[in-house]
Parts: sequence; structure tokens; C-alpha cells
Amino acid sequence: MNISIIGYGQIGKELHRQAEQKDWTIDCIVQRHCDDSQAYKSDACFLSIPSNQGTAAKEYIISFARKQVPVITCEKGALADHYEELEPWLGMMGYSATVGGGTGIIPYLQHMMTPKTQIHAVLNGTMNFIFDNVSTGLGAAVRKAQEKGYAEPGSTNAVDIINGEMGDVARKVTILCNVLKLGMVTTGDFTMNTVDDRQMHHLAKGNHRFIVSITHKREAEDVIGGFRHDVGNYVISAGFKEISAKPEYQSLIPNGANNAILLKEGDAVYRLEGPGAGPGPTASTMIKDALRLTQHIYTKKPLGKP
Ligand SMILES: NC(=O)c1ccc[n+]([C@@H]2O[C@H](COP(=O)([O-])OP(=O)(O)OC[C@H]3O[C@@H](n4cnc5c(N)ncnc54)[C@H](OP(=O)(O)O)[C@@H]3O)[C@@H](O)[C@H]2O)c1
Repeated sequence: MNISIIGYGQIGKELHRQAEQKDWTIDCIVQRHCDDSQAYKSDACFLSIPSNQGTAAKEYIISFARKQVPVITCEKGALADHYEELEPWLGMMGYSATVGGGTGIIPYLQHMMTPKTQIHAVLNGTMNFIFDNVSTGLGAAVRKAQEKGYAEPGSTNAVDIINGEMGDVARKVTILCNVLKLGMVTTGDFTMNTVDDRQMHHLAKGNHRFIVSITHKREAEDVIGGFRHDVGNYVISAGFKEISAKPEYQSLIPNGANNAILLKEGDAVYRLEGPGAGPGPTASTMIKDALRLTQHIYTKKPLGKP
């Protein structure tokens, strides 16, 4: 297969490495302000630009899809904030890595979810890692997250980091609402309650995790920070919740920087946990999307060809 990669950072470089292992040909690597004309000749295009570039990502996706080139993206802003424009092109897109990195949360939910399903989820590996390690002290947990590449280097202020990561969760929840057809939303629909120093001090005791619940009725519960919103028949409640508040939360919490999702339907409970981020698992999820989207290329070729 011939591919192109747009955005050559951590994920772009890992995609390059995994594609070479598969003997795929890299037609073109597109960096910011570079000519992308060669990329339109590829069998598939991988998009790995920063998630605050939703408008640029949307434009790339539509222009490639119009030329019948499938686009596999891990960028979150396009599907979160330009879903209506992208909906006609979803069949040309792979987007499994936009929520939960390498966990495969979107395909799992597309397969498992019914109108009766209630969801509880941990969708941000950075915050889960920090609060999983908070017994060593908040500052030390933040530094460890930075050393491991889970949190951006630079700011060591836990309040700033946590408030930034809550925005990442809002983008992921928006994508879930849109692609699972719970109701159409953009991140602007969510009013974010940030956390302050006093609340962070309380959270540093380690009894809370940032949990997203998508259920059918609003329940009274103590939630610190985050956002609440009604979408279609669903009630979304996201924020720091005490782990001991519900048995579902105790079963949900993943290890370290993993993400996890727990589905409840009547008495049946299903759970999925996996690597929420990281170049390796994210790129391999994107490559699986590419193989699914380009199956037709191979089936049209004479037997004996790959
Ligand atoms: N890292 C993870 O574990 C992970 C997991 C899941 C999803 N994601 C998503 O994957 C995407 C990429 O993440 P990353 O960690 O690889 O980021 P990164 O290391 O910052 O790389 C992004 C690359 O995109 C380039 N870029 C920016 N705007 C561009 C444009 N308009 N056209 C072409 N290239 C452009 C940047 O170039 P400049 O340096 O010139 O700006 C940079 O080389 C993000 O959307 C992120 O949310 C990441």
C-alpha cells in the first residue's frame, strides 16, 4: 500500500516506522505549510496534527475524501467541532484512535451499545496516571507523568495541567456523542468547571478519579470540576468523582495511564481497558483502520498480489 502522513511528530514518526515494517511505501510526508499534492496519489492518508487544529484537519479530510483517498485521523478537533460538515465523509474516514488512543473505544461502543446502555469511562490517561501515583505527592506524580511523556513538559503546576486535560476529555466526549449518534454537539456546548488550588488539595488525597458517565437520568452525586450536559436521551456527567461512591466506579478504574470503559445494561456489565495514549498503540489502531478502509484495493487486485 502507498500512504502519506500529514503531521510528523510523535505519532507521525511512529506511523512511518510501523508502515515500513509492513513494507508500505511512504509517498509523501506533509509538514506545516508544505506542498501536499503528492499525497493525493496515495491509497490512504494518515492525519496526525495537533488537536487544536480542528479546522485545518477538517479541510485536509474533506479535500482527500473528495479525491476518494481514505483519511485515518487521531486528531480530535475536527470530529468534535466540525462534525456536521464531516458526517457525509465518515465512510472515507478512520477515527478509532481519536478516543482512547489504542483502546479501540469507538469500535467497541459501535458494536456493543444499545439504547439501554449506560456508560462510565476514564478517557484521559494523563489524569488517571497522576491520581494513580498521587500517594507519592501531587508534585512528584506530575513530574513522573512528564518524565514518561504523558503530560507536556513545561508547566509543573498541577492545577494548570489538570484543567488543560479536562478540555481533552470534553473533545473526546463530544466525538462519542457525534459518532455514536447520541446527539450532535460541539465542545462549545459544554461549560467547563475548572478546579482551583483548594479543590486540588482535596483531590490529592487520592480518593477521586475523573470519570465520565453517560446515563439516562441525572443522579445527585458529589462531582468536582468537569462538565454536565444533556444530549438527546442521555445525561452526561463528567468530573472528579469519589471512587468509593459506586461499585461501578471501583470496577472501572484502570491502571496508570490506561483508559477504560464500563457498559451496564440491566444486570450485564462489560468492561474494556487499554492504552489511552502513546505513539505505539495509537499508530497501530490507525493502521488497523487503514487496513479496513482499503480492503477494496486488495480485493480488486488479481490473486497473488497483497
Ligand atoms: N501522542 C499520543 O499519544 C496521542 C494519542 C492519541 C491521539 N493523539 C493525537 O495525535 C495528534 C498528534 O499528536 P503528536 O503527539 O504526534 O503531536 P506532535 O508531536 O506535536 O506532532 C504534531 C505534528 O504536526 C505538525 N503540524 C501542525 N500543524 C500542521 C499542519 N497544519 N499541517 C501539517 N503538519 C502540521 C507539527 O509541526 P510543527 O512542529 O511545525 O507545529 C508536528 O510535527 C494530536 O492531535 C493528538 O491529540 C496523540
